[in-house]
Amino acid sequence: MSPTILSRPRPVLSAARGMPTSDGAGVRMTRVISSPQVGVIDPFLLLDEFRSDDPTDYLAGFPDHPHRGFETVTYMLAGRMRHKDNHGHEGVIDAGGVQWMRAGRGIVHSEMPEQERGLMWGFQLWVNLPAERKMSEPNYQEIAGSQIPEEAREGAHVRVISGRTTRGTDGAVRNIPTAPVYFDVQLQPDATFEEAFDAEANACVYVYEGEIMVGGQTLERGMLARLGEGDGLRAATGSKGARFLLLAARPINEPVAWHGPFVMNTRDELMQAFDDYRAGRF
Ligand code: CO
Repeated sequence: MSPTILSRPRPVLSAARGMPTSDGAGVRMTRVISSPQVGVIDPFLLLDEFRSDDPTDYLAGFPDHPHRGFETVTYMLAGRMRHKDNHGHEGVIDAGGVQWMRAGRGIVHSEMPEQERGLMWGFQLWVNLPAERKMSEPNYQEIAGSQIPEEAREGAHVRVISGRTTRGTDGAVRNIPTAPVYFDVQLQPDATFEEAFDAEANACVYVYEGEIMVGGQTLERGMLARLGEGDGLRAATGSKGARFLLLAARPINEPVAWHGPFVMNTRDELMQAFDDYRAGRF
């Protein structure tokens, strides 16, 4: 049993299942953050899980589309995704790998499965940018699955995508304006995971395998729990193990003007985004 590091573990404020949806050219997925039940968890705008071994669910992919004003984070568990943008940037995200893309002032890109069969499983998270960074230069951080720092704990295994753990492991992705914690945690049966993080952060967990208990509440696979106030997360498993994502960051607390692939602060900036996109200025 590892020592208890938290004096005030965060409770579950609310928990909800994701909503089946489809996006791109008809890719079936589950919307977890930004669903009608959950809404936005500032600065996390959206979280989708895609998981299917039926190619008809994913083959159509996400052909050319624009983004402006925020960051997209693609994290693959299984399968491979090829992306390509209109500035000549191209690459493949492999299983376990992550692509953190700052759309900034704008890119047009496609995200297409690099496979014709087999399991395709992963997540796309949208992280907002503060006003002064919305029109910054587009930028990529791409980390192969084998390069994501991992921390082995008693009964737990943590993949550190971004942020620093209490044990001092730094995430693979650096220099993100919102400085988010993004951990992928695997828990053995009958194990407890504790992690302290910024008390001023908005935080949530998404269980994508098995189930965990947080503050007396059971969270099954497919449930997103928004966490209340406290000094960190305490999650425990019963007879099943679990895998979940932990996300935490201080809110930006700015107005959000969002339409489709553009996330700005004002309606005028949104109109400008549409104009710029149509005029080929991305
Ligand atoms: Co995209």
